[in-house]
Amino acid sequence: MQNEACTYVIFGATGNLSKVKLMPALYHLEMENLLPKGSKILAIGRRDWDNEKWIAEVREMIKAKTKNGIDDAIFKRFSERLSYFRVDINVANDYVKLAQELNANATYPSNMAFYLAISPEYFADVTERLSKAKLLEENSGWRRLIIEKPFGYDLESSQALQKRISRYLKEEQIYRIDHYLGKGTVQNVLVYRFANTMLEPLWNRNYIDHIQITHSEELGIGTRAAYYDDAGAMRDMLQSHLLQLLTLVAMEPPAAMDAESLRDEKVKVLKSIRPIPKQAVNAHAFRAQYSEGMSEDGEKLKGYLQEDGVPADSVTETYAAMKLYVDNWRWRDVPFYMRTGKRMAKGQSTISICFKEPPLQLFKNTQVQCMSPNWLLLGIQPEECIRMEMTVKEPGLEMRTRVSSLDASYRNEDERHTDAYEDLLLDVIEGDRSLFLRFDEVEYAWRIVDPIIKKWAVERDYITTYPAGSWGPKECGRLFEKEKQCWRSSLTPECK
Ligand code: BG6
Repeated sequence: MQNEACTYVIFGATGNLSKVKLMPALYHLEMENLLPKGSKILAIGRRDWDNEKWIAEVREMIKAKTKNGIDDAIFKRFSERLSYFRVDINVANDYVKLAQELNANATYPSNMAFYLAISPEYFADVTERLSKAKLLEENSGWRRLIIEKPFGYDLESSQALQKRISRYLKEEQIYRIDHYLGKGTVQNVLVYRFANTMLEPLWNRNYIDHIQITHSEELGIGTRAAYYDDAGAMRDMLQSHLLQLLTLVAMEPPAAMDAESLRDEKVKVLKSIRPIPKQAVNAHAFRAQYSEGMSEDGEKLKGYLQEDGVPADSVTETYAAMKLYVDNWRWRDVPFYMRTGKRMAKGQSTISICFKEPPLQLFKNTQVQCMSPNWLLLGIQPEECIRMEMTVKEPGLEMRTRVSSLDASYRNEDERHTDAYEDLLLDVIEGDRSLFLRFDEVEYAWRIVDPIIKKWAVERDYITTYPAGSWGPKECGRLFEKEKQCWRSSLTPECK
């Protein structure tokens, strides 16, 4: 059954998110015939553009993101949905004009999704102005608000933001995006865990030694200094995307796959995370900043302090790592290590699960040189895979072993890659909030990192550095609980 037609109203339509993610994703939904008949996309921007100019811009945005070129017939169909409306988001009267445009023009379906692809400091004001212009009232259709991360800057500001926007919206109308939840490989973590019985007996403290979640990026901060220097890696990646990955790995099976059951289980995990007291921050978290370095192909890379727009004395972290414990029956005393960094050796997101060693080292006195523990590797991106590493005997007369991997591939070569935003934009139309964050999830995630960011905010005289293009600072190894534990960066067997 096709969904009812709706109007997507995109604030910040001329900005970067819209350019690289939203418009290409909407175009792909058009290609797949997934946008309900009669749906419209109204771009909101400050510039004095008309529809024709906007459509030409969108064509360029899509061209830049489509490998096989634009299909003219599909783009024509898509462009019939597009229009542009000028609003200065700080001017209340512009919202009155917007309401007139939307109400007076019968071509705009009255189900409306307002997407705030704008700087977070405007989230509350724009919501208030939309409400005052009566655009959030659900008299003749649904009204939904989509908010990008970051939802707040710390615990207190996220609560304040929530308090303000909940004056104008019911929780069911709010769609807080964490785009990681729209990634197919991230959703596959749940399928892998709950659609297969083999793993469940092993998925706990009895068999798992520790879990690592890594998101590394090859790129630096590019042109985002204004945002990034205030945020830093802990807020930008760990508090949001990586903690979400942790909840999916650690959660109990939900009662059903509906939004509330799923989010209840994720919240339980976040609530069970052992709080980090102020005096233990250094034992649980590590930060660093990239300095000048070299890429793999010998290109000289700037340090963070040399990037455009970064203050010369900035101690903002571009690398952050943390060790957490989930104090529940399943996970008590199993460390979860998480790390993220810009300008690292390679861009990838992975979840690596290290199993305990066998209780007896039966091959100790043989010629076995390589006794690795079993690892389960979940490649989120760019390599999408599920791999289980086992130790096997090498052919031959001697007792030597090597590591062999069992592969459960995620995608066949002929299967299309869908972007996270395609899934999420469609879920908004369908009213499915399973892949969006409920406020208590956001709040608990802030509670976890708040002691760390507070301490780092006052310790401003020094930050460890790591060379751009490397795997991060060696000193970070101090987070590991045991000597044998260390960061796992590769998805292929690493035998030590
Ligand atoms: C964003 C962060 O939320 O996620 C960026 O603000 C980061 O700094 C990005 O680069 C990573 O997303 P992805 O989908 O490219 O892994």
